Amino acid sequence: MKTKITEMLGIKHPIICGGMLWLCKPDLCAAISNAGGLGNITAGNYDTGEELQAALRKTKALTDQPFGVNITLLPSFRITQETYDDYFRVCCEEKVAAIEVSGAPAKRYLDQVHEAGIKIFHKVGSLRHALNIEKLGYDGIFAAGIEEGGHPLNDDVTTMVLTPRIAESVKIPVVTTGGIADGRGLAAALALGAEGVMMATRFINTKECIVHENIKQEIINRQEQDTTLICKTLNLQGRALKNELTQKVLDIEAEGKDLERIFPLITGQRVKDAWNNGDVNGAAFMVGQSIGLIKDVLSCQELMDGMVKDAEAILRRNLERF
Ligand SMILES: Cc1cc2nc3c(=O)[nH]c(=O)nc-3n(C[C@H](O)[C@H](O)[C@H](O)COP(=O)(O)O)c2cc1C
Repeated sequence: MKTKITEMLGIKHPIICGGMLWLCKPDLCAAISNAGGLGNITAGNYDTGEELQAALRKTKALTDQPFGVNITLLPSFRITQETYDDYFRVCCEEKVAAIEVSGAPAKRYLDQVHEAGIKIFHKVGSLRHALNIEKLGYDGIFAAGIEEGGHPLNDDVTTMVLTPRIAESVKIPVVTTGGIADGRGLAAALALGAEGVMMATRFINTKECIVHENIKQEIINRQEQDTTLICKTLNLQGRALKNELTQKVLDIEAEGKDLERIFPLITGQRVKDAWNNGDVNGAAFMVGQSIGLIKDVLSCQELMDGMVKDAEAILRRNLERF
């Protein structure tokens, strides 16, 4: 399957892994890239540029295929402006294939990134943001619908509508994300005008993703209605698994914006611990509605080969209808 994205990034499958704090580390990243997609190292996993650099070098030792880095430019207690500068510097030094930016536009870094020969994409949840990103000179857009795990924009537009709206309005390639987990989603994304898909939630249920088996099983057991949007009242909504903890957050939010009670419940450390110890009620696990489509744990190779094969069969079958 050849698209503008496979050609631009030199990858076999038009499938990209989205940034996942605590999960997108060298082993998973290399497994995805070795299987023909674009793996992801999430910079926020590392407290310094040096630590990120070590992770990039470790990934290079595991794969000779292209991979990307997610840099989430949101106000953070943990990551300073200096560290963000270091993240970009290190990516340029290591010449990663692509950078996925989310949050604020990476205006001040664009020239530096392009001079290093790196492709830079921004994840957006609205047409107006996509138009701005194109104007700034980015190489492509990740169009993220409200179905996605993580922090969908509070415009609340679905992948189904956002993808064609952006694809018809910009000239740079669009990759769709939010709710994609199988070959049907890939075929649909191409039909909607995208050049590929980005997935994150589906990659949690792969053999190479280092989360506790309890969580993988919980994702299999749960259905599409089992996610919720927390922290809307803080203006940073996050789509997470419905569980005891997210219900507690929603209850506190309903009583008013009590940051002192909410923050301890949503700390990064709590999520990090729970991914590892398998306490399915212990944290706000960012997962998307695509959990309804996830029925197993596959290797990255099995997952992506199967998706492309299914998408090709679907597209062919539909051509035969005419
Ligand atoms: C566990 C998890 C952690 C995530 N962490 C980040 C992050 O740190 N930065 C970011 O830009 N997006 C993050 N995301 C969003 C994904 O990169 C991606 O946009 C989204 O999950 C795609 O939709 P899907 O969940 O339906 O596959 C995260 C998603 C998940 C599931």
